[in-house]
Amino acid sequence: MKYLLIGSLGQLGTEFKNYFQKNNIDFIETDLPTLDVGNFDDVDTMIGTFKPDVVINCSAYNYVDQAENDRWTPIRVNTIGVRNIAYLCRKYNSFLVHFSTDYVFDGEKPSLYFEEDKPNPINFYGLSKFLGELSILEELEEYLILRVSWLYGFGTQNFIVKFLNWSEETDTVRVSIDEISVPTSTRTVVAVTMKSINEGLVGLFHLTNSGYASRFEWALELKKQLGLRVNVIPAKVDEFQLPAKRPKFSAMSNQKISDLLGISIPPWREELENFLNIFASKN
Ligand SMILES: NC(=O)c1ccc[n+]([C@@H]2O[C@H](COP(=O)([O-])OP(=O)(O)OC[C@H]3O[C@@H](n4cnc5c(N)ncnc54)[C@H](OP(=O)(O)O)[C@@H]3O)[C@@H](O)[C@H]2O)c1
Repeated sequence: MKYLLIGSLGQLGTEFKNYFQKNNIDFIETDLPTLDVGNFDDVDTMIGTFKPDVVINCSAYNYVDQAENDRWTPIRVNTIGVRNIAYLCRKYNSFLVHFSTDYVFDGEKPSLYFEEDKPNPINFYGLSKFLGELSILEELEEYLILRVSWLYGFGTQNFIVKFLNWSEETDTVRVSIDEISVPTSTRTVVAVTMKSINEGLVGLFHLTNSGYASRFEWALELKKQLGLRVNVIPAKVDEFQLPAKRPKFSAMSNQKISDLLGISIPPWREELENFLNIFASKN
């Protein structure tokens, strides 16, 4: 089985690359500037030349606030780029695995989101990702779309890195208490994605660690597990006057994928502890 990994320099792409190397899996990897998913001819040449059995798309434009002003780039990467990849997967008979987000939801539901719940994005990043999902549904009959949330791994653009930087710069950090979702590790996402591919799962699923938390609770847990002295104060997300609206409660249930695979996905706190142990052993 041959894999093509798109977006291999991002945090999720890096985790897949490490997994493939460790398990001697046949793959090629690509990212900007070698491959721009918004360029149809480049994607055609890449998939047409390598003819992978499976394309794993980890590329994305993830700058939620910047997306409110620069609307073209998220559409180009998260919608048109995904349509290019989906169209060419059909042309070359490759199976597409793609990642989407909890930000397709408006966050107004008072309980966990399931796959059957209707998306209603409230910011432009969420809209561009939802349109990407629809592009896949239009181009392909068989695919794997996995919605993930609050992703962290060995990257530079996640909440853990931001929180560590704030903790070094200041004594007190204000963190939103009215933004709730599921911190999810790239390790969990890669392990469950690979099992899903190996078991022939097809469709759209929610893939998160188990449970949920506010950003404030996540920060408190980081403080506790890392033994930091910083004061963590609860705040309302509106206080930060961010350009993009955030869903208030976008936690998703992983029940469907867990049941189909017969697995139990670790709770977010337990997985965070595992990750921080690995992180500490590498630093
Ligand atoms: N991070 C989260 O909290 C989160 C939450 C929910 C869903 N997700 C989804 O999970 C997936 C993986 O996210 P991640 O955190 O690993 O993202 P990431 O670290 O930002 O990685 C995305 C990669 O895609 C690359 N890229 C950007 N534009 C591209 C283009 N036109 N052509 C090819 N590659 C391009 C980026 O390159 P540059 O760095 O050079 O731009 C980067 O290497 C994405 O689908 C994302 O939307 C993430």
